[in-house]
Amino acid sequence: MKPTPPGAQPDPAPGAVPRLPGLPPLAWQPLGPPQARLGLYVVDDPDALLDGMDDASFQASDERMPYWALLWPSGEALARHVLEARGLSGTRVLDLGCGVAPEGLAAARQGARVTCLDWAPEPEPLVRLSAERLGVSLERFVVADWRTPPADLGTFDLVLGADVLYEARNAEPVAAFLAVHLAHSGEAWLADPGRLHARDFPAVAARAGLVLRERQPLLCADPEAQVTLWRYARAGGAAAPAV
Ligand SMILES: C[S@@+](CC[C@H](N)C(=O)[O-])C[C@H]1O[C@@H](n2cnc3c(N)ncnc32)[C@H](O)[C@@H]1O
Repeated sequence: MKPTPPGAQPDPAPGAVPRLPGLPPLAWQPLGPPQARLGLYVVDDPDALLDGMDDASFQASDERMPYWALLWPSGEALARHVLEARGLSGTRVLDLGCGVAPEGLAAARQGARVTCLDWAPEPEPLVRLSAERLGVSLERFVVADWRTPPADLGTFDLVLGADVLYEARNAEPVAAFLAVHLAHSGEAWLADPGRLHARDFPAVAARAGLVLRERQPLLCADPEAQVTLWRYARAGGAAAPAV
């Protein structure tokens, strides 16, 4: 298990919420059915992050909004789905655009070897704190742009991506990323809440050499949310999914 991030106060008792330097107060949010014993830290008031942004910092950050700070319905729904999946133990899983990593933590709870990736550096200490509180281990947290991932990232049996197709500019690089970083028999599980910009993804993915194996609705805690799971594999990949 990774140590408490520098500067973080330790979590002295279940229910107590530590503070992280430079971030607004956190809240612990349970996730999934109680028997799953899953939960995660989120920023209690994400608006406080927006208040800290001015036009200059927005432009300088490649127009990144602090979307990492929320638990999105897609992340929540994909995490539940991962909790119910069989055969994840020991598999190499990547949580792409992890934010606070609901789906990555769910995979870690299942015994997978989890790498988290996000271009925002802020979620790393939160996700490590969540893993520590859950008593699960994360193999690696990579702060990187999925358009320019590190050369040593490797390939994965399962890539999880919840709500990563929310901007038009995301489809091409996400498809290209999957075409490189999915293992030969690997799968990508993308959870989409009906984003307008996700509509082009199937065509973009096909051009990148990916095949859509299945689409299915995911169960959401929020009855208003409608999240769809897309299962992608590499064209010519093994017929049976690795997980
Ligand atoms: C809508 S949030 C979803 C977060 C998390 N998957 C969930 O469902 O709760 C999208 C995430 O993708 C990350 N992201 C967006 N563009 C990215 C890029 N080019 N490279 C890496 N991460 C990116 C954001 O920082 C954010 O954490």
